[in-house]
Amino acid sequence: MRIDIISVVPKLLDSPFAHSIMKRAQDKNLLEVHCHDLRTYTPYRQGQVDDYQFGGGAGMVIMPEPLAILIDKLQAERTYAEIIFMTPDGKTFNQSIANRLSLGGDLMIICGHYKGIDQRIRDKYVTMELSIGDYVLSGGELAAAVVVDAIGRLIPGVLNDETSALSDSFQDNLLAPPVYTRPQDFRGMPVPAELMSGNHKVIEEWRYKQSVQRTLERRPDLMGDEEHGH
Ligand code: ADE
Repeated sequence: MRIDIISVVPKLLDSPFAHSIMKRAQDKNLLEVHCHDLRTYTPYRQGQVDDYQFGGGAGMVIMPEPLAILIDKLQAERTYAEIIFMTPDGKTFNQSIANRLSLGGDLMIICGHYKGIDQRIRDKYVTMELSIGDYVLSGGELAAAVVVDAIGRLIPGVLNDETSALSDSFQDNLLAPPVYTRPQDFRGMPVPAELMSGNHKVIEEWRYKQSVQRTLERRPDLMGDEEHGH
């Protein structure tokens, strides 16, 4: 999968994809992330990409022309399954959306800044608007990094058995169970006996019960909530 990210501060995206699982996904040629500096595509002088909003009010708005030039160029080169705009007024991103996008085609992600982007770009090009939660970030870059990470690790072949996504929280609308490693007795706190039993069935049952208990305690909204289903 190829993901093109459009930003006015592309440096913010230097590190999130350069390490760990995102790096491995790219090394294995399962994921390609390309970050584009919008200033490179502006037809205006001195790299101008934003301007005051019509009607007045505080905050700059990213101009439509540079965005249209870059989006047109990218769309002429390939077809995108979705053109996503990161914005706090978008649909709240979740595991179910990540699953779906990880199995689809190439993605373009537009990061807003300041007051956002000209509405006409949203009307003409954007096919999906995503928020990562009910709070406002200074730009869409960190949100885009979150979305790309969540999607990237789900691309078939990216995770190995040890890091398998199947046992993650949310994959079956349940939170993941507690995990333990050595030592078996940590400062008087033992590992639950079930995990030490060597009995696969006992272990699976214990994990399932813990998952259900955790979900009921912490996120009862996940249980019986169709929105989060597959
Ligand atoms: N840009 C600013 N805040 C955001 C958020 N919460 N989600 C996605 N993009 C954003």
